[in-house]
Amino acid sequence: MEKLLNNISNEVTPHVVIFPLPIQGPVNCMLKLAELILSLSRGTISVTFINSEFIQHLLDLHSPAPARLSRFGPSFGFETVSDGLGPYENPRGGQQLANITNYLGDQAQATVSRLRELLVYGSAGPRRKPVTCIIADGFFWFMPDVAKEIGVPLVYFETVSPCGLWTYLCLPKMLQAGDLPFPGDDLDALVTSVPGMETYLRRRDLASFCRDYDPNDQVIQLFLKEAQYYSSAQGHILNTFDDLEGELLSHMRPFSPNMYTVGPLHLNLMTRLEQKQSDNVDSPLSFSNNIWQEDRSCLTWLDAQPSKSVLFVSIGSLAFMTKDQLVEFWHGLVNSGMRFLWVRRPNSVIDIVDEDQLDISDEVLAGTKERALIVSWVPQEAVLKHRAIGGFLTHSGWNSTLESIVEGVPMICWPFFVDQQVNSRLVSEVWKMGLDMKDNCNRVVIETMVKDLMGARKEEFLKKVDCMAKLAAQAVGPGGSSYNQLNRLIDDIKFKRLAIPSNAH
Ligand code: UDX
Repeated sequence: MEKLLNNISNEVTPHVVIFPLPIQGPVNCMLKLAELILSLSRGTISVTFINSEFIQHLLDLHSPAPARLSRFGPSFGFETVSDGLGPYENPRGGQQLANITNYLGDQAQATVSRLRELLVYGSAGPRRKPVTCIIADGFFWFMPDVAKEIGVPLVYFETVSPCGLWTYLCLPKMLQAGDLPFPGDDLDALVTSVPGMETYLRRRDLASFCRDYDPNDQVIQLFLKEAQYYSSAQGHILNTFDDLEGELLSHMRPFSPNMYTVGPLHLNLMTRLEQKQSDNVDSPLSFSNNIWQEDRSCLTWLDAQPSKSVLFVSIGSLAFMTKDQLVEFWHGLVNSGMRFLWVRRPNSVIDIVDEDQLDISDEVLAGTKERALIVSWVPQEAVLKHRAIGGFLTHSGWNSTLESIVEGVPMICWPFFVDQQVNSRLVSEVWKMGLDMKDNCNRVVIETMVKDLMGARKEEFLKKVDCMAKLAAQAVGPGGSSYNQLNRLIDDIKFKRLAIPSNAH
């Protein structure tokens, strides 16, 4: 009888529902994962990708991803849900993350039938197939209950850095040990209750919400819930590789015994599809999943610059700066005398109505005209790959960090929130691939750090990051750790090897 049941369940075509947090970074990562699953399983696994209506609208407007994924025919489909934030004109920045997640969590209860229909039947293609696995953002604390109710395995994909994630998972431990709330004002004091980080993690390297710790704050509540529910999943996908974070991963194993380290994911995708191309399989080699219009003219501008002479400046998709910080950045960059390509996303500077209000001297404007280009959004992976790029002033988002490592580009880190504070500490203190400017935004510091990164200490940083870039390439190459882990993930989905959570209802 058991054999008969197994045979019946094995006849159901594997069908994964992928559900990212509806913001640029996670959507980008999860689309890449979807493409890898579809491509490497050669159509034997179907994928339904759930976006918020807002993200889907932007993808349809600006991104080649929907057209690119259409090559998988009925094996791939998008589905949309509301993010609860109303009309598309309403703000959807970092400040709204908690609202979106809570809304989706509330909706998972209130509209469980909607999700359930989606999760039971999915939508990949005209032939509706039952869902056999859910891959959801690690921030979605409500998904273990949904997966249990539907009776399919849940794999969390945490698109933030594992080093950052590890500090979230240790929040209860930090509270218990008295490291949180901070027992004093010294932000340079070491935090001793995060195993593996005792020698370098300072209070200022924890997510900024730890600084004014308020147990009732809804953002903190979300991170505590993440720590509480994280282990309930049947597997955990992490965008990293063993040579980068292996030691920390060993501390995390008790929380996630079935860990798939598949990073750097974008390199895994590029390498795998390039390999398929050489196997004469038709695959596109541009993998942009950007939800905003890319200004590709910057690549022509870069073509005209000397090798490794340009600092790339970008603070990602959610971080923002104040008007005063913008003025400090601007002066520091120009005063460094270096060339720079600066992404200034619309609405990324608060309290500014128009740039004419800014206190920018004629000399600084002249220096900008002479040596810089300012644009609103670029194809970042292509920019970092360009031979003219010699450094990256980044907000230390995890995708940006990995993209920089893969291209061997040293970094100056100006972290904004969540995992970024931790990432920047590892970049500077553990991996020694750059400098950490956290909490220190003034023109003199910026000028000095740019000169150091692009001049005085250039070779020292290049050596470290080049070495890590080679290890990243090995990890995703045949037989490498991330190559093998990705194969294992796909096989586990294909052959339905993941445990099914027992139904709580
Ligand atoms: C968010 C969080 O801020 C970050 O800490 C977490 O690690 C992931 O989710 P985000 O601000 O989106 O990230 O930063 P990041 O993870 O670096 O992702 C930004 C993505 O946008 C990168 O893949 C980058 O290539 C892309 N990008 C950015 C562009 O394509 N063009 C740009 O001009 C800027």
